[in-house]
Amino acid sequence: MTTTTAPSAQAPAAHLLGWDCIEFWVGNARAMAGFLAGAFGFRCTAYAGPETGVRGKSSYVLEQGDVRFVVSGALDAGSPIAQHVRTHGDGVHDLAWLVDNVDAAYAAAVTRGGRIVREPWDETDDLGTLRLAQIGTYGETVHTFVDRTRYDRKRLEPGYTNENLPPAPAGPAVGVVAIDHVVGNVEKGKLDDWVHFYAEVMGFSPLVHFSDDQISTEYSALMSTVVWDGTKIVMPLNEPADGLKKSQIQEYLETYDGPGVQHIALRTDDIVAAVDALRARGVRFMRVPDAYYDEARGRLAGIDLPWDELQRLNILADRDQDGYLLQIFTETVTDRPTVFFEIIERRGARGFGEGNFKALFEAIERDQARRGNL
Ligand code: FE2
Repeated sequence: MTTTTAPSAQAPAAHLLGWDCIEFWVGNARAMAGFLAGAFGFRCTAYAGPETGVRGKSSYVLEQGDVRFVVSGALDAGSPIAQHVRTHGDGVHDLAWLVDNVDAAYAAAVTRGGRIVREPWDETDDLGTLRLAQIGTYGETVHTFVDRTRYDRKRLEPGYTNENLPPAPAGPAVGVVAIDHVVGNVEKGKLDDWVHFYAEVMGFSPLVHFSDDQISTEYSALMSTVVWDGTKIVMPLNEPADGLKKSQIQEYLETYDGPGVQHIALRTDDIVAAVDALRARGVRFMRVPDAYYDEARGRLAGIDLPWDELQRLNILADRDQDGYLLQIFTETVTDRPTVFFEIIERRGARGFGEGNFKALFEAIERDQARRGNL
């Protein structure tokens, strides 16, 4: 682990207030929304589509704790959503952030070299005015800046209804409370460029770097740098490295047809209850070999943990100088082996499970081998 310092930047960067929402572009929004509700315990809180006067797409808003997802599908072949799905399969299109001033955030990002996707615009209806702007990040992923201060919080944006929504499927409460971090996979050799983008354009600071010898297995290699805004927004970035076999990051880049979001980590205050609930709801997780727990009990000696429960549920454990964390990774939730979720409980630790990387990647590689890609 190597701690690095932020490069100095010339003009003040965008002032970010936190996550607004994450939007998925998928082939069947109704089905993906139902999956996130049924399997992950999200509740559908809003809908937009032809019935609400929105043409060409249908969108479902799903919420749990402070996490808000939007799942959108195309209603015609010429839609940008349809084109995105044809290229990438189901995936994340937009990582949207709340800001106090959209025009200032946009101007700062563009002045610092950000790629313009859409200049600032207003969305207005009877509940007020939303101010929005978009800049590009890795692949076809975008960041939307959102100012909600002049818009009623009871609606996501014009065109959405809170009525006649799909009912919540039965199942135990999961207890997701917040987005912990969102990981992107970028092209081989481009990690430094994207770290530079987040530092210079967005004003983020590099938090920690992992070289390939620290987090790689015998077969599959990657490098990773974590950047963050200094408060709430944490964005690890991965690039593939050379190993004996194809890197899992390379497999992602080939099957997603370019860079994109690899996983979204959802924070809970009780991971044993959360994973019990998710398993009861039918979520499948990466399997962890029993031998992992012999090693982990030694690595975390002195910390009182429910080891039998962790082993039964395949939850991973790691520690750093500030405390410990518990985490688990789902299987990919898309048809292509691209996007998955992480569930994480932090007890002081501020890391990302570096001590678990090899255990995780060995688990990933067993699945990769089953698909004939290792
Ligand atoms: Fe993670």
